[in-house]
Amino acid sequence: SDRVGVHWANITCLESALKSSYLHALLCLVTASTGLTDEQKEFQKVAFDFAANEMAPHMAEWDQNEIFPVETMRKAAQLGFGGIYVRPEVGGSGLSRLDTSIIFEALSTGCTSTTAYISIHNMCAWMIDTFGSNELREKFCPDLCSMEKFASYCLTEPGSGSDAASLLTSAKLQGDHYVLNGSKAFISGGGDTDVYVVMCRTGGKGPKGISCVVVEKGTPGLSFGKKEKKVGWNSQPTRAVIFEDCAVPVTNRLGSEGQGFNIAMKGLNGGRINIASCSLGAAHASVLLARDHISVRKQFGETLSNSQFLQFKLAEMATRLVASRLLVRQAALALQEDRPDAVSLCSMAKLFATDECFSICNQALQMHGGYGYLKDYAVQQFVRDIRVHQILEGTNEVMRMIIARDLLTES
Ligand SMILES: Cc1cc2nc3c(=O)[nH]c(=O)nc-3n(C[C@H](O)[C@H](O)[C@H](O)COP(=O)(O)OP(=O)(O)OC[C@H]3O[C@@H](n4cnc5c(N)ncnc54)[C@H](O)[C@@H]3O)c2cc1C
Ligand SMILES: *[C@@H]1O[C@H](CO)[C@@H](O)[C@H](O)[C@H]1NC(C)=O
Repeated sequence: SDRVGVHWANITCLESALKSSYLHALLCLVTASTGLTDEQKEFQKVAFDFAANEMAPHMAEWDQNEIFPVETMRKAAQLGFGGIYVRPEVGGSGLSRLDTSIIFEALSTGCTSTTAYISIHNMCAWMIDTFGSNELREKFCPDLCSMEKFASYCLTEPGSGSDAASLLTSAKLQGDHYVLNGSKAFISGGGDTDVYVVMCRTGGKGPKGISCVVVEKGTPGLSFGKKEKKVGWNSQPTRAVIFEDCAVPVTNRLGSEGQGFNIAMKGLNGGRINIASCSLGAAHASVLLARDHISVRKQFGETLSNSQFLQFKLAEMATRLVASRLLVRQAALALQEDRPDAVSLCSMAKLFATDECFSICNQALQMHGGYGYLKDYAVQQFVRDIRVHQILEGTNEVMRMIIARDLLTES
């Protein structure tokens, strides 16, 4: 190629960058493995290898052709990544929230969008395992853990986003069924997935009137909107999910009537750590891409990495990445231990890591100059994929609300 440095930073070379960086990472500051147990280092390596070999070589194609990589995800599930924190007796891996974070962080270096979908799927499987009857757990969890079936989380509606407790989708009890009416917006996986975990209104206004039911694809009255065109997250479809007199057995309810909002929020506590972890992986990959690019690109007669300005930028990026990772892992531990500060820490981790990591990826793009803006280079995809992490699973403004509420509430 006549473009200086192009062979270093193009997308296929991300694979080798990641492979060498895993070894490199043991020596360099952005290492993701210090302080981990031997077992954690082991599955982290498995996840990094999967990211480098099975995901990174395809991430551009999945993005550009909007491919939902079902077979790749099933391979990931064979490694235990389909139900990481689901209990083993229904097919899960039974790992901790910290273990989960380590895995999503590593996978995300290979394709952030695909990993983020896998994280939503894991959240749904955990909700069924934790709040479902034994019958429901046995019916759904094994197929979800193997990713024979895929799941979607359905909370947001066209008129209810940040104010999720105002949702309107109604579920009226008729005999031994709930009849659902209403629509959900922005559902990740929607239309391509098999199992829908749906928050709906069985009672009065507010959070206490909400229940959570599992709706299977193929149920009469369940349909989908058009596939949304998005800035990023293109390896997973996003559609509206529509219910028109959709009858669901009462036995498909998770928890008791009125507990649905609570279940939805419990799912999101872990979801927020997972999304934050996906942001760490995107930032990690972007730091490596920027490092490699400025190490070979020459301007003003020397490599860019001789510029102290760019050295300092790289140092700041690594520092912000490590600070984000420390906070995410601490929040994961707090959630695992069910500590009283867990909800706030999960919100802080999501707010801080998704903002910082977006800024790191964006800075990495800047360090690529014009090449960073070309789709031949992986860094722009990380920027596009990670942007939405500041918006979903509760916007970062909603994270501030949760943290402030905790600070201002007398205990
Ligand atoms: C690609 C994608 C995938 C998604 N996947 C899913 C999914 O799988 N399941 C699901 O249920 N949802 C999903 N969502 C929806 C997502 O969770 C919502 O978009 C998000 O919660 C924000 O809601 P909204 O879009 O209605 O924005 P709004 O609530 O309308 O907010 C608009 C802006 O105003 C701010 N704002 C709102 N209220 C306040 C306030 N009181 N103070 C300060 N600022 C405020 C918000 O932070 C935001 O910046 C997805 C969204 C996207 C884009
Ligand atoms: C669902 O909506 C349709 C169309 O608005 C209406 O005819 C039907 O009665 C509703 N069903 C229930 C159970 O509310």
